Amino acid sequence: MTLTEELIAAIRNIPDYPKPGIMFRDITTLLGNPRAFRRSVDELVHPFAGTKIEKVAGMEARGFIIGGAVAHQLSAGFVPIRKKGKLPHDTVRIAYSLEYGVDEMEMHRDAVQPGEKVILVDDLIATGGTAEGAVKLLKQMGAEIVAACFIIDLPALGGRKKLEALGVDVRTLVEFDGH
Ligand code: PRP
Ligand code: MG
Repeated sequence: MTLTEELIAAIRNIPDYPKPGIMFRDITTLLGNPRAFRRSVDELVHPFAGTKIEKVAGMEARGFIIGGAVAHQLSAGFVPIRKKGKLPHDTVRIAYSLEYGVDEMEMHRDAVQPGEKVILVDDLIATGGTAEGAVKLLKQMGAEIVAACFIIDLPALGGRKKLEALGVDVRTLVEFDGH
């Protein structure tokens, strides 16, 4: 099986969740599949082997799972970008739009030093609202964003284009049509 075939087979599709007309791409089945999880992380890491990456930033919650594994593999630090009110020290905060609403995210001010090379990781990019917020926070702290990496891209929702317009190199493993 090719990686694409394996990932498509490992991701569970749930129609009409969280609302009618939405096809939810459930990665819990991929995470629970040792081979698919390993191959996904290996593929995300591959382009950066031999590159000095200081930090991997992951967005709560699903980005913590994938990003933590990627950071470990690259021997990089991990920066949690959290939903508001969860981080105990000085933070920078930004409002962002989601496919299903609006929220605020934040990161610790001292989580990234100016000039550090950072990869942003999440499970999926849809509208790109979440990733755009994270990119803005990281840039505000002076990070050099080497790439933004996702297992799943929903190209119809325009997230990749939104990030590319911000000058970010976007890498994804598998695309699904529509929602
Ligand atoms: C999902 C997904 C991405 C985001 C993508 O997270 O994990 O983070 O939506 O959507 P976007 O490109 O339109 O911003 P969600 O906010 O549902 O929360 P979770 O990761 O905590 O489950
Ligand atoms: Mg998420």
